[in-house]
Amino acid sequence: MIHDPDRLVAEIDALPDTRMFGRVTSVLGMMVEVGGVEKKLSVGGRCRVITRGGKPVPCEVVGFRAGRALLMPFGGLDDIGLGCQAEVAEGQAAIFPTQAWLGRVVNALGQPIDGKGPLPQGEVPMLVKANPPPAHARRRVGGKMDLGVRAINTFLTCCRGQRMGIFAGSGVGKSVLMSMLAKYTEAGVSVIGLIGERGREVQEFLEHDLGPEGLARSVVVVATSDEPPLMRRQAAYMTLTIAEYFRDLGQDVLCLMDSVTRFAMAQREIGLSAGEPPTTKGYPPTVFAELPRLLERAGPGTGQGTISGLFTVLVEGGDMEEPIADAVRGILDGHIVMERRIGERGRYPAINILRSVSRTMPGCNNEEQNALVTRARRLMASYADMEEMIRLGAYRRGSDPSVDEAIHFNPAIEGFLRQRKDERAPLETCYAELAAILGGGGAG
Ligand SMILES: Nc1ncnc2c1ncn2[C@@H]1O[C@H](COP(=O)(O)OP(=O)(O)O)[C@@H](O)[C@H]1O
Ligand SMILES: [Mg+2]
Repeated sequence: MIHDPDRLVAEIDALPDTRMFGRVTSVLGMMVEVGGVEKKLSVGGRCRVITRGGKPVPCEVVGFRAGRALLMPFGGLDDIGLGCQAEVAEGQAAIFPTQAWLGRVVNALGQPIDGKGPLPQGEVPMLVKANPPPAHARRRVGGKMDLGVRAINTFLTCCRGQRMGIFAGSGVGKSVLMSMLAKYTEAGVSVIGLIGERGREVQEFLEHDLGPEGLARSVVVVATSDEPPLMRRQAAYMTLTIAEYFRDLGQDVLCLMDSVTRFAMAQREIGLSAGEPPTTKGYPPTVFAELPRLLERAGPGTGQGTISGLFTVLVEGGDMEEPIADAVRGILDGHIVMERRIGERGRYPAINILRSVSRTMPGCNNEEQNALVTRARRLMASYADMEEMIRLGAYRRGSDPSVDEAIHFNPAIEGFLRQRKDERAPLETCYAELAAILGGGGAG
């Protein structure tokens, strides 16, 4: 997963360039200090540092200290030393996507890494660090969106432009679920950001989970765990930027990001290196400033198109109070909780319906559908309350009619929630199926 520095150089060269040079005055860890051009730079600005061998390394300004600019590199720091030139690059980072990016895999800088040759370049520049649309100009979330996964369509229905978190530990089925969403959604395009995973996991996701037919309707952005923090953070921005391109064409876009936690960790590395204090359980304040700026780029636009976002958050041991989980939950319009023990008993996707919620759902369902959902949830809750007792054989049938009913319906509800990865569950049939199971007539 290496990027091609030559292309980036070409991109920077294409920008109006005043060719101003500073000098490297110190290198410490991942941080390069540059003197002489502080007044020409600002946080988020770009530079390229020329190695002793004459190779340019793209860098970003992450702070200032004692009158000098602090830069972090998008590549390695080999061969950079005191006195090396640092050239100021004017303008903001932008990409030029086209429809032909569908089916392609790119890195954090928007360069192809799939060996399928060069990426066609479009006409319209899209800023990589765009701001979310202004709140007052944004449309409201649209109608229901078919995501092709029965548990979500039925109990956690999402609307066009909704943003949801997927909270799960590792190995619980996030990648498989994301690939199902990307393949089976009615959204025209999926943009998938894979951030901070190992290279092997990325390969598995592309080849086994997503497969050629899923990839054909997707653009995938990848920054693996071994890449510098700036690349991992940038991959998250790049994912949203590409989604915004398709949204601006008036399309409904599904934006999937795995994981927001690794984005936050990249920002933590950047912030701490730039001298920020670790204020919240080791996370510096910029993490909590950057999270909403990133996640709010998903959502309805000001025109026809929408970005529906599903963002995974790593919660080991189900700790939803962990600072990143807590911050993300506050920003989004709902959350889907996946649990290891559900997968272990063989029910995939391993979603705990009772702990999950879609905030827009009650408003987009009719009364009959809401009643059906409430009834099913109540049965699941009764069962969950008594689960231990039932397993241990400590519950005697007949002691409580509501528990008896829950036990009666449990196998059918579990069966309803179970979905093979090669199966698509269309939205139209979900409620009718659930109604048939609960014997309550067709609820549409
Ligand atoms: N829908 C599913 N049907 C069958 N097995 C599944 C399903 N989803 C996940 N699994 C199983 O769980 C394992 C881990 O899933 P994966 O998506 O790679 O987890 P994560 O991305 O959370 O680490 C898979 O290898 C597979 O065996
Ligand atoms: Mg995975």
